[in-house]
Amino acid sequence: MTNEQLMMEAKKAREHAYAPYSHFLVGAALLTKSGKIYHGCNIENAAYSPGNCAERTAFFRAVYQGEREFEKIAVAGGPKGREADKLCAPCGVCRQVMMEFCDPETFQIILADGKGGCLQHSLKELLPLGFGPENLN
Ligand code: THU
Repeated sequence: MTNEQLMMEAKKAREHAYAPYSHFLVGAALLTKSGKIYHGCNIENAAYSPGNCAERTAFFRAVYQGEREFEKIAVAGGPKGREADKLCAPCGVCRQVMMEFCDPETFQIILADGKGGCLQHSLKELLPLGFGPENLN
């Protein structure tokens, strides 16, 4: 699965976004090491803070299904009515959720580069010195 293909899946997931407050629609496509894709979208709430990001929706769907091994995630976000072709980087909370389930050295985060292509960063690049399960030992 190429980064571009996974980004297309994230764009499809974005069509499911529930974002009546920010009107900022986000989709994510999470690829497991076994080759399965879990999709997620942002889901907002009238009380605002209970809202969930697309990345966490994808992770929580996958973890519920028993998945624990992840290769990469693509994220596509942007204002409603516009193509999701600009950079939309995961928030700090989502990076921390990734830290729980992924090897920061190898897990890759795929983002739109704003020029029709994709950027790729390891979780370690986006969350340097992150706190994970290993730190509790
Ligand atoms: N959002 C995501 O779903 N993922 C990101 O990477 C950035 C932000 C959502 C949260 C909120 O519903 C909306 O985008 C505006 O912040």
